[in-house]
Amino acid sequence: MKITITHLSTVSILFSLAAAWIPGEHREILARDGENLFKRSVPISDSISNNSSLPSVSKVRCANLGSLYIIEPWMVAKSWESMGCGSTGSEFDCVKLLGQQRANEVFANHWSTFITQSDIQRMRSYGLNTIRIPLGYWIYEDLVDRGTEYFPQGGLAYLEKVCGWASDEGIYIILDLHGAPGAQQPYVSFTGQLSPKNFYNDNNYERALRFLEWAANLVHTNDNFRNVGMLEVVNEPATVSSQAESLRTEYYPQAFQRIRDAETKLQIQPNKYLHVQMMDKRWGSGDPNQALNDTSYAAYDSHTYLMFSNTPVDKDTYIKTSCNDDRSGNQPTIVGEFSMGVPQKFTSTQEWTSKNPNNTEFYQKWFAALISKYEKQLGWCFWSWKTELGDYRWSYDEAVQAGVIPMDVNTALQMDVCAAYT
Ligand SMILES: *[C@@H]1O[C@H](CO)[C@@H](O)[C@H](O)[C@H]1NC(C)=O
Ligand SMILES: *[C@@H]1O[C@H](CO)[C@@H](O)[C@H](O)[C@H]1NC(C)=O
Ligand SMILES: *[C@@H]1O[C@H](CO)[C@@H](O)[C@H](O)[C@H]1NC(C)=O
Ligand SMILES: *[C@@H]1O[C@H](CO)[C@@H](O)[C@H](O)[C@H]1NC(C)=O
Repeated sequence: MKITITHLSTVSILFSLAAAWIPGEHREILARDGENLFKRSVPISDSISNNSSLPSVSKVRCANLGSLYIIEPWMVAKSWESMGCGSTGSEFDCVKLLGQQRANEVFANHWSTFITQSDIQRMRSYGLNTIRIPLGYWIYEDLVDRGTEYFPQGGLAYLEKVCGWASDEGIYIILDLHGAPGAQQPYVSFTGQLSPKNFYNDNNYERALRFLEWAANLVHTNDNFRNVGMLEVVNEPATVSSQAESLRTEYYPQAFQRIRDAETKLQIQPNKYLHVQMMDKRWGSGDPNQALNDTSYAAYDSHTYLMFSNTPVDKDTYIKTSCNDDRSGNQPTIVGEFSMGVPQKFTSTQEWTSKNPNNTEFYQKWFAALISKYEKQLGWCFWSWKTELGDYRWSYDEAVQAGVIPMDVNTALQMDVCAAYT
């Protein structure tokens, strides 16, 4: 970090950067063999660098903090009810129902209790080295049109805490614009609002770009965000041709431009640039690189849920399919979402339910198959760390408690499950 005092506009920036980047306390937590990518160095604590029992970190092993900042009621129905959100289906609708002040209180309670420092510590103890944090644009409160949009306020202080804890643990952080202005997908709770998809226009692109600039500034100037190395510019966008085209030719190039401009203003050297992440070409929005002149420090995201495919629902077929699920497309790719969910019709049957101990062995093997294939790419992020479903197929933490995912994730990889299926 070559920053001289004359380039800094405020003392607080100087202070936090100086605190964040002290030579000798860094290592490259995401080094990738033979490639120049992901060699971003981050500060790590002595306890981590000295702990030889920790796995090597050349692959991303990660859980999503789903429903922390964009609550999907199906994942946390009990919390949603106790917050008073009733039968509403999105944060927007709940905030509108409760009124701003009451909403701010109940969401603050959710943020402060849903993920705690001990969750973050447990992740590291399991051998995870990365978290992906889905965010709604409204966490940057200036972007919200208070006359027509209803979102909780005050989330940033908690985000700062979570990122500080993760940074202290040496965990790499991906910030994901998961709920874009106007909603990038129609009528789904993961965008935070049940509305038609109104993201694909100049006004909402501009708001998203301001979000990215703001996030880049935050990451580079606030010590708590020092381990954020990747910014996903929009989660799961439209696959319809005209919208996907404007995404590729207008939004993605501008997203790069605005993030890099923010970094240039801060005198950030290229080896400290944020990786700019987009859904990969398998997603269905076309090749994200189409209109990019420079893909340095670009990264890609692939999502795959076998339950939504037409794969025959048969245990052996599931493992075999996952062992052969080639996620290559753009490079480098992280499989940023997957779970052990099975189609609704089968989820509670004796043969498939996670409540039948006879199925434990299958889920152990399937999980091992999934991640071993995803580690042919850069790595993976499970969906999700925590839910209230009482079903380890959607909760990494519960899967570990249930013995489905081993206490040390390396053990799953050592099973070499796919040797028999490829
Ligand atoms: C690791 O442990 C040694 C010996 O306890 C100590 O001198 C050193 O400062 C620690 N930290 C690092 C980063 O090696
Ligand atoms: C190293 O990390 C493991 C897993 O988190 C933990 O169980 C162990 O106590 C740590 N060892 C030291 C010396 O800190
Ligand atoms: C990319 O290159 C083309 C052709 O050289 C140029 O017209 C365009 O302005 C460039 N775009 C960016 C974002 O630099
Ligand atoms: C589990 O498997 C055993 C042995 O095949 C069988 O006797 C038992 O009924 C099964 N339990 C359930 C809950 O399916």
